[in-house]
Amino acid sequence: MEEKKNSSTSLMEFISSHQQNQETSGDPFINKDITKLVVIPLYDFNFFFDTVEVDETTRKELIIILNEMKSLPAALGNFHGAYPGGLFDHTLLVVNYAYYICKSLKDQSWLKKVILTAICHDFGKISYYSTKLKVRERRIKISFDEADLIRSEIWEKFNLTGKDRHVENAIAVIKKYLSEHKSLFDNEMYIGIIFHHGSWSKYLPQEMNELASLIHVADMIASQVLKI
Ligand SMILES: [Fe+2]
Ligand SMILES: [Fe+2]
Repeated sequence: MEEKKNSSTSLMEFISSHQQNQETSGDPFINKDITKLVVIPLYDFNFFFDTVEVDETTRKELIIILNEMKSLPAALGNFHGAYPGGLFDHTLLVVNYAYYICKSLKDQSWLKKVILTAICHDFGKISYYSTKLKVRERRIKISFDEADLIRSEIWEKFNLTGKDRHVENAIAVIKKYLSEHKSLFDNEMYIGIIFHHGSWSKYLPQEMNELASLIHVADMIASQVLKI
């Protein structure tokens, strides 16, 4: 018990000291080493909200969801981004790489979809990790029933079978916490989220679209190459 108290105190200290650093340095990441790892331009979430031209309500709702990530890891154990705020950093890095890859292509018509899908691709980890790590103050919660409902919808809408809690929860977060989700997201983007783990995706048949492939590449660079 004592150990848990100490770890939650140090977690809070870690978060508040890094949030202060962010405000003073302008570095959008919690882990200050990230900007030393890459040479591509790195932008904060506000830049991407402006690029997507999200409405004010959506911007506020996305900030609430992303703030929840600032205390959560991207993974546990020795995997990528296994530190408080790793999920926030991982997501921002994936969005930056997805944007960078998309910007290198002649066809820019899907840029907004790429950014929004990248922002939301791991929303499903929020509820899972905050439950597992017993985070006290939570604003984003998805129940098993809500996740199961999305699983049924994936079957009805796309004829896909499988079970992947981080996918079902991600779509559940979008539908529960983004009031404009019907105008912001389409089937192409949901497929992009369902198959963002490429050939490791747990839904069958595996029918990745271009969006899923692009998010997957950005996700792999962040998680497997940069370990964030
Ligand atoms: Fe993922
Ligand atoms: Fe990811």
